[in-house]
Amino acid sequence: MRAWSTERLTRVERALETWVGTDAPAGLGEAMRYAVLDGGKRLRPLLVLAASEAVGGNERAALRAACAVELIHAYSLVHDDMPCMDNDVLRRGKPTVHVKYGEAGALLAGDALQALAFELLTPDSDNVPEAMQARLCRLLAHAAGSAGMAGGQAIDLASVGLKLDENQLRHMHRLKTGALLQGSVLMGVACGDVSAGERQALSDFGAALGLAFQVVDDILDVTADSATLGKTAGKDAEQDKPTYVSILGLERSRAYAQELHAQALAALDASGLADARALRALADMVVDRVN
Ligand code: IPE
Ligand code: IPE
Ligand code: MG
Ligand code: MG
Ligand code: MG
Repeated sequence: MRAWSTERLTRVERALETWVGTDAPAGLGEAMRYAVLDGGKRLRPLLVLAASEAVGGNERAALRAACAVELIHAYSLVHDDMPCMDNDVLRRGKPTVHVKYGEAGALLAGDALQALAFELLTPDSDNVPEAMQARLCRLLAHAAGSAGMAGGQAIDLASVGLKLDENQLRHMHRLKTGALLQGSVLMGVACGDVSAGERQALSDFGAALGLAFQVVDDILDVTADSATLGKTAGKDAEQDKPTYVSILGLERSRAYAQELHAQALAALDASGLADARALRALADMVVDRVN
């Protein structure tokens, strides 16, 4: 499994290195590259590639989809860290983009990364069928927009200081983080040809995994230190954000992450796919991770 991910990570890094910001003017490219390159676990790209391989998907399309979803994720982090949102100064072990390039620079880097994501999905050549390009764009737009990440971030900011109930919290987490992770799986699936049953099972897998990811993010904010996380620990309590830890406590949050992990694996089993080993390993990584 280590060999599997090392090879895919190398492919993704090379592609991002080639595609991001090389000819953008006035320092914009530098800020884009700073936001995307050398850092991050690249979980979303790995999910795209693993899902695509599990369904025998188009490799060129999958690499583009893997990079596109990482660009949306990187843009979401740049904006999430800005003073008007979480006001963070540390990300991926480095000063945040607005600290280094100013607020306007960070805003524009995020905007340009988002646009580039969709450009990558719609190449003139590269043998990606146009219907597949359209499907990938639709999935990514849905996961990133008001029904997904951006909507969840809006709820997050509107919830500061409020005591959400468990249903409201789950809804917020599904949108702000779960949608892009589930979208990563669905984009991988869209690179191949699957039955409706297989697609539904993998969608369920992505939903459980996506929620588990943010539950663990909430836990790590409390239990890990900034050096390990590469971002400032303890921010959620400091900013009075409702999180799984603040609402369920640490032990029940850990148990819930395990329950979601089991749900994800059950969905994988239900998919009946011949080789889901990489997806299984990524599910393990989501709950076992230390950063
Ligand atoms: C952090 O995501 C932001 C959330 C959605 C919780 P990751 O933990 O995947 O961040 P990187 O990409 O590894 O930096
Ligand atoms: C952010 O959630 C989710 C995004 C859409 C970027 P957090 O605000 O908890 O992410 P971190 O902890 O700053 O990485
Ligand atoms: Mg946030
Ligand atoms: Mg944040
Ligand atoms: Mg967090």
